[in-house]
Amino acid sequence: VTIRRLDYQVPAYLVDTVELDIALDSERTIVEAKLGIRRNPASTAPRMLVLDGEALEFILATLDGQPVTPVIADNRFTLADVPDSFTLVTVSANKPSANTTLSGLFMSKNGFFTQCEAEGFRRITYFPDRPDVMARYRVRLSADKARYPVLLGNGNLLEQGELPGGRHYAVWDDPFLKPSYLFALVAADLVCEEQTITTNTGRTALLQVWVENGDLDKTHHAMESLINSIRWDEQRFGLELDLDRFMIVAVSDFNMGAMENKGLNIFNTKFVLANPQVATDIDFANVESVVGHEYFHNWTGNRVTCRDWFQLSLKEGLTVFRDQEFSMDMIAAAAPNAAVAASGKAVKRIDDVRTLRAAQFPEDAGPMSHPIRPDEYQEINNFYTATVYEKGSEIIRMQQTILGRDGFRRGMDEYFRRHDGQAVTCDDFVAAMEAANAHLGETADLSLFRRWYSQSGTPVLSAEREWDGNTGRLTITLSQHTAPSVSQPVKLPLHIPVVIGLLGADGADLPLRLDGESGPAPTERVLHLKEAKQSFTFTGLPAGEAMPVPSLLRGFSAPVVLDHDLRVEELAFLMAHDSDAFNRWEAGQQLMLSVIHARLRGEDAGLQTSALVEAMHRTLEADLDPAFVEVALTLPDEAYIAETLDVVDAPAIARVRDELKRQVATGLEDSLRARYTALGVALAAAGEYRPDPASAGRRGLRNLCLRYLTEIEGDGLQLAREQYAAATNMTDRFAALTALAHAGAATAELADFFQRYENEALVLDKWFTLQSTAARVPDGSSQPFVLHVLGLLKHAAFNLRNPNRARSVILQFCMNNPRHFHADDGSGYQLWAEYVLRLDSLNPQIAARLARSMDRWRRHTPERQARMREALQRVADKPELSPDVREIVGKALGA
Ligand code: ARG
Ligand code: ZN
Repeated sequence: VTIRRLDYQVPAYLVDTVELDIALDSERTIVEAKLGIRRNPASTAPRMLVLDGEALEFILATLDGQPVTPVIADNRFTLADVPDSFTLVTVSANKPSANTTLSGLFMSKNGFFTQCEAEGFRRITYFPDRPDVMARYRVRLSADKARYPVLLGNGNLLEQGELPGGRHYAVWDDPFLKPSYLFALVAADLVCEEQTITTNTGRTALLQVWVENGDLDKTHHAMESLINSIRWDEQRFGLELDLDRFMIVAVSDFNMGAMENKGLNIFNTKFVLANPQVATDIDFANVESVVGHEYFHNWTGNRVTCRDWFQLSLKEGLTVFRDQEFSMDMIAAAAPNAAVAASGKAVKRIDDVRTLRAAQFPEDAGPMSHPIRPDEYQEINNFYTATVYEKGSEIIRMQQTILGRDGFRRGMDEYFRRHDGQAVTCDDFVAAMEAANAHLGETADLSLFRRWYSQSGTPVLSAEREWDGNTGRLTITLSQHTAPSVSQPVKLPLHIPVVIGLLGADGADLPLRLDGESGPAPTERVLHLKEAKQSFTFTGLPAGEAMPVPSLLRGFSAPVVLDHDLRVEELAFLMAHDSDAFNRWEAGQQLMLSVIHARLRGEDAGLQTSALVEAMHRTLEADLDPAFVEVALTLPDEAYIAETLDVVDAPAIARVRDELKRQVATGLEDSLRARYTALGVALAAAGEYRPDPASAGRRGLRNLCLRYLTEIEGDGLQLAREQYAAATNMTDRFAALTALAHAGAATAELADFFQRYENEALVLDKWFTLQSTAARVPDGSSQPFVLHVLGLLKHAAFNLRNPNRARSVILQFCMNNPRHFHADDGSGYQLWAEYVLRLDSLNPQIAARLARSMDRWRRHTPERQARMREALQRVADKPELSPDVREIVGKALGA
């Protein structure tokens, strides 16, 4: 069934109050729901109450105290001829122990947990399970006290006590109206770290991080991140914590990263638990960003929520933008000076753009391509995508670029002034941005900009230059083109903000005066491309000199592919001099790409390669922030390279990229070793491990040096073994293990690692992931890689039901190991089909994620295409497929 955005109808009935009594039992949980319902005055629908309900056993229902008999069919509960205002009581049962979908009420090893977004609440009780029905909730939980000593709900704890039969209860009351997807409960054997905080207006609140016994040594970073998030939202957006109690609960079985349930955020353990022994620098950064993300949802998502699920990016794109800004500001705040702060922010931006290019660009060019506000879906869970999240964030970021930071803040203030407590649309957000900035005139006209919400696909932005050296005039002609897609055969021009600078012969920024302007000119400005093609002429540039070098799309000011006409020397010049750190990095990436493209065409590209290696050498030797040097010396991902090609030969891409890596390593060998040693000394002198940006940057660069050194003959493997053995933190130990595994020389260390961390589930996930994504079978043997993956799937510690573990092998192999997944014999595809089917009967959401690794099958070589199609067909042919997987394979096959 396809649901369409334009079919939206207001709810026929509203629910004002919800009183739940939930008697938790693994085999039969009984839920009594008392709903205060009234007719929606805005609705013209028939007088028929329709509630959602899924996997529920109906027990009884009363309307104003009188028994009623609903029709229950097709996951709907229907009552005809209901009054204008009434109290409905339903009693139903569900079986948490059998719920392997991890949607609704489910069990993880130490208790009961819930996940209601998007449509899980209907698996707990009959309800109009849609985000525009907002109610006040009061919940009474009861459970066996010995097994489930902690009972948590949304809002405030009103009352708790003992019950006969070894049970106990707790009553929770949420003072805020909320949609059902923000409902949550936890009943488990947990312990917490807690702290009270005073907000900027003097309210006090209790903060808690709940984990299972034995994990209290891993909660500190999450708590600190929560406090930093609260402070940041107060300072940057004037948004205060509105609850007396804010809880984070970690659970080891979870489909997604985390969930922003009101006052009771539930997290995948991966994004809570961290200490230097088990978490890497990247893990620490991820915990901070996900804790921030979920906390920021309290305003962007909870206080103002979505009218319907087509508006998902209203909360997700905006909240990703907010968490990205938060991480940047945290990096800047830790920096000793402005230069390091700027470079640190650029590194964060670079990371985010790499994610966008590796995950969202392919999505937007494939069968799942959709606008950030989709027009239709079959299964909403399939639309928690890189497009809705990451491209959604870029579309918010462009509004900040267009309106300025202050203008954007005014827009946010206006958004909350208008919509606090409401369920609204993406259009409402843009309208608030415009209204708050009306005094800016044309700048604040976002009418054309709105197309970013409705049009899918990645625009290609092309730039041409015309230089008049006699008069010092430079004309830049920008044009845009978005390729047609199945659902949108005609694409329209978008409003693209292009941040630009021009570099003079000395590498410094030149003043940018547009033709006809006078007065002082800035050295960086935003060009607004609003048509298919537009020219911009700059005057007063140094006459008689060579053409200035344009630095376009600084800071990646729009989510587009820039088709530039820069020569190799110009790229090297930008790489060395651009005042915009993002574009210094980007110039290097473009140089690398052009070498890789040439090699893939079979050219030797010797001269270009030496120019590149020389430029990389200068970067390594320059006095730059190590974190920046690390990203600048990292070759583009295989997935991004694949996106820049018309026909993808995945193993060939990996081979060419490996060769280039070895050449870089050979060319830079002495510098790499010197830097490796020097950074080691500096880190040792700095003392105990801390995950701050400066020391993480040093470790990152040092471990990249190690990685390069293990690519070539020499002492690299020896250094890696020494580092592995001597490591005092997970970052260094795992980096050494990774280098060894990719070299096919990690047999002993992998065995040692397993033994050391046998009882640390998240560390074991890393062990599985590394082996599933390695370039070679980690013991260097010549067995086909897929057999190694099969071995991992049969390992005693593997468990298909645990999403983190399932992802660590099967998803990682299919998504992040292109060279082996695309093995010539099609064995990777067969494994894919088998596991999509197996997972589908357990957990459709995880199965559908896995299914997406075939999205781009039409771009591979003809022989691989044939085998991929066969595997897709095998899955599509199964009669009992979930709607989740059905939608993905259906779209992939073009049905
Ligand atoms: N709102 C959550 C977040 O991004 C994601 C929950 C998605 N869950 C799902 N089953 N689709 O923070
Ligand atoms: Zn979110």
